[in-house]
Amino acid sequence: MSARGKFITFEGIDGAGKSSHLDFACDLVRARGHGVEKTFEPGGSPYGEKIRAVVLDHPPTPMARALAMFSARRALVEGLIEPTLAAGRWVVCDRFTDSTYAYQGGGEGLDANAIATLEGLVHPGLQPDATFLFDIDPATAAARQAARNRQPDHFERERGDFHLRVRNLYLERAREFPGRFHVIDAAGTLAEVRSRLEAAFARAFP
Ligand code: TYD
Repeated sequence: MSARGKFITFEGIDGAGKSSHLDFACDLVRARGHGVEKTFEPGGSPYGEKIRAVVLDHPPTPMARALAMFSARRALVEGLIEPTLAAGRWVVCDRFTDSTYAYQGGGEGLDANAIATLEGLVHPGLQPDATFLFDIDPATAAARQAARNRQPDHFERERGDFHLRVRNLYLERAREFPGRFHVIDAAGTLAEVRSRLEAAFARAFP
């Protein structure tokens, strides 16, 4: 039996650029000699993809959104994350439960206790081994997104201090869980951020 794999998550506000670094993180895992699965939330399974479409295009209320995110999450945990880790392979996941705390909690004002209750039901005993938080100020992130020039989803259309509240909630969680979180300054070029990720990865998995 091989040792259980490690569970890595990427977090950050929209436009932080985290998704550009997922493949690189998988390369870092492979360079250590481990197999790896890459996935993302909301989505990552056919069921999750359907929920993603509904939640991002026709969003109901914050609580309904949180429930939908956790429903997709449960499918991903049972269908992919747990079996992969149990088989000794690693998982790199673009967003996980910290996104719900940050977006539905910090951004939309949902009570953190409600999120914690759902977390305890949906993935008891499962937490990421390392979470890389791509941190950037919302104005820089918004400029990046404008340059990408594609149709913004529900959360990307949020205005005012929404993304600032999301960012602050992420930073609060990073302070609360310093052993798991690795904050990466996501301002700068792709190459600069990549080398920061590489250094953080080395610290997370010495
Ligand atoms: P993401 O896939 O990172 O966006 P994109 O494909 O546009 O780069 O995430 C989609 C949106 O869903 C993002 O704005 C954050 C939001 N979200 C939540 O609000 N709560 C959650 O629990 C998750 C996983 C995502």
